[in-house]
Amino acid sequence: MTQTETQAVTQTVAQPTTQTDLMIELKDVFKVYDMGGTDVAALDGVDVRVGRGEFVSVVGSSGSGKSTLLHILGCLDTATAGSYLLEGQDVTHLPDRELSRVRNRAFGFIFQAYNLLPDLSALENVEQTLLYAGIGAKERRERGVRALEQVGLGDRLRHFPSQLSGGQQQRVAIARALINNPTLLLADEPTGNLNSEAGDGILEALVELHRAGMSIVMVTHDPRVAATAERRIVMQDGKMVKDEAVLERTKLGMTTAA
Ligand SMILES: Nc1ncnc2c1ncn2[C@@H]1O[C@H](COP(=O)(O)OP(=O)(O)O)[C@@H](O)[C@H]1O
Ligand SMILES: [Mg+2]
Repeated sequence: MTQTETQAVTQTVAQPTTQTDLMIELKDVFKVYDMGGTDVAALDGVDVRVGRGEFVSVVGSSGSGKSTLLHILGCLDTATAGSYLLEGQDVTHLPDRELSRVRNRAFGFIFQAYNLLPDLSALENVEQTLLYAGIGAKERRERGVRALEQVGLGDRLRHFPSQLSGGQQQRVAIARALINNPTLLLADEPTGNLNSEAGDGILEALVELHRAGMSIVMVTHDPRVAATAERRIVMQDGKMVKDEAVLERTKLGMTTAA
């Protein structure tokens, strides 16, 4: 490919061009489930590359394979066939223990359900992750406070989940995902349980994190949510049918308060 052609491709799909920029490379990935004799291909030959600092959305209807893709990206699951390079390391066939080490080092996860522990304060929920990493109380506290401040919850440290709105609980979950300084944030329907105003708040937080340099892959079934990212991958029946730059990004905070 000539230099000009390379640039043209970069502009169309915003794909990384140099090896150092490349964070994730999935090649011809299949995930096949055996459903009592019939094979169901949740992923059917998917190629994805994600570069450092990108904000990518994965959109498609229910059952198209979005969550399966995210689970494989996040090393929560492994592919039936194909290969996965994470920052140049082949993680395709790592044993479970290695995989969980990679997972804890590299990724921050946000799910539709906030999964906060009800008996712990916001700060304790966020700090929890660092306990397992063997980090001392003082540093845990400092990092926890910083992460909560980063998502605008510096004044809610002692609140319990039941004393926070849905949007605030999801912010705590984002802070928890950030606490280990992940290289990539993976979000599966992060606004799925929220009204559009609270959802926009979460998307704004993600846009802000991306602006500060965070790499993000976000799964959603909602085209409006998907268009907050700068690049969009469209899934259909386990296949990637589109990989394109988002030309008109969703303007957040434009929904009327319900
Ligand atoms: N653990 C599983 N066992 C069997 N089939 C599964 C499993 N997980 C997902 N599938 C199937 O794979 C397809 C893709 O699922 P999923 O990735 O959850 O889709 P999406 O997140 O886009 O809604 C669906 O047809 C689903 O039923
Ligand atoms: Mg899903």
